[in-house]
Amino acid sequence: MSLDNDEAQEYQAVIQALTSFLNFHNYQLETLIKPRVDTFTSLSVEDKTLIASWYQKHTSYLKEAIDLNSEFTKDLASKVAADWGIQPQSPEMWGSDCYTALQLHQLEKTQGILLQLMREWSDEGFKERQVGYNLIMLELEQLYPETKTRLTVNILVPGCGLGRLVFELVCKGFKTQGNDCDYHMLFTSNFTLQHCWVAHNYSFFPFLEDQQPLGNIGGASGAGGVGCTDYGNIINHSSRAMQLRPVTFPDVSPSARLSELQSENPGISYEDMVSITAGSFVELYGDGKDDKDEKIRKELLSGEKFDVVVTEFFLHTADNILDYIRTIRDLLKSGGKWINFGPLLYSTPKPSNNVLGFAKEDLVELIPKLGFDFEKHESGIESTYCQDQRLLVRYTYQCDFWVCKKL
Ligand SMILES: C[S@@+](CC[C@H](N)C(=O)[O-])C[C@H]1O[C@@H](n2cnc3c(N)ncnc32)[C@H](O)[C@@H]1O
Repeated sequence: MSLDNDEAQEYQAVIQALTSFLNFHNYQLETLIKPRVDTFTSLSVEDKTLIASWYQKHTSYLKEAIDLNSEFTKDLASKVAADWGIQPQSPEMWGSDCYTALQLHQLEKTQGILLQLMREWSDEGFKERQVGYNLIMLELEQLYPETKTRLTVNILVPGCGLGRLVFELVCKGFKTQGNDCDYHMLFTSNFTLQHCWVAHNYSFFPFLEDQQPLGNIGGASGAGGVGCTDYGNIINHSSRAMQLRPVTFPDVSPSARLSELQSENPGISYEDMVSITAGSFVELYGDGKDDKDEKIRKELLSGEKFDVVVTEFFLHTADNILDYIRTIRDLLKSGGKWINFGPLLYSTPKPSNNVLGFAKEDLVELIPKLGFDFEKHESGIESTYCQDQRLLVRYTYQCDFWVCKKL
């Protein structure tokens, strides 16, 4: 069977993402260890003598942490490859030739995934994710106070990242579909929801590399998660130990909980209760201009529309925010709600200059013109994103929260 051009590109994207998990070890050695060793070698004898005892010890601790990270990313990739019917040991994904062929941004995404896991699925990320989740959950609990009726409520979460919000909504009793377009995200949410039966079963080191401030927080054409990687910069840490803090994962046991929920609700299939679709939001759920996705779109929606669309740290990923808003509107039932939390940074740096940028006031004026009524709107809610909370310099986003009703 031969693949058409689009399918071949998709297959390549899948292979590249898996390869970056499998070869993450080489990348971390190159970005973290090589510069340290080179710098040390270039020092004068006097300077070497001054720092040798702790500098070299720290380098060897970093190597151990890198080994452990690699065990984790390899395990993840092997399990996901098996789920997706791909042979993880195939030569096209493994070894130094594959590593050399990998695009840097694929490896940076893998680093971003460790921070994203920290945000969404660790105790360390609890405070950060609660800022948005609390507002969203409170609103939904007020809208649907009767737990028993919630399985008739369809929620969509576009740009769902690693699926934590989807999981939380299902635990609250809602039928929830997530959507994401990034294979790193999709593989990792697949791994977390399907293969994590025991809480705190894994540990990894997400803070070895520095996190860039206004890095790409998940644009469609950029990294799936946060932007990152600044040559393993330790200068933003107060101590060496801070750089070497492990994080255990997951903080709950998602696979076990979802399985329990399925047994408690035998009247609904697992896929109806919880699912994550793969593809670009507008292409998959939009007005169907793209023929390739039209069939999938029809199957997904099957004439049914959503009661609620929840967007969290998602709107800024749009090349054209108007397309996102129209798509959200068209997916919602009349009177349905759009709940949004996040920063309104539409001008996330992208390779193309075709990003339609707006100031917040423009957007707030446009939303009612596109068929919504603002029922609630708060601004200036401070939230971090995939942030190591112990860094000396930290970045905080000024977020907006709103609830809009489709007219
Ligand atoms: C900043 S992350 C937010 C993830 C999650 N909602 C959270 O709050 O942690 C943005 C997510 O949107 C996804 N994304 C970006 N553009 C997308 C698109 N056009 N369609 C679907 N998902 C997209 C990215 O892959 C990423 O997972």
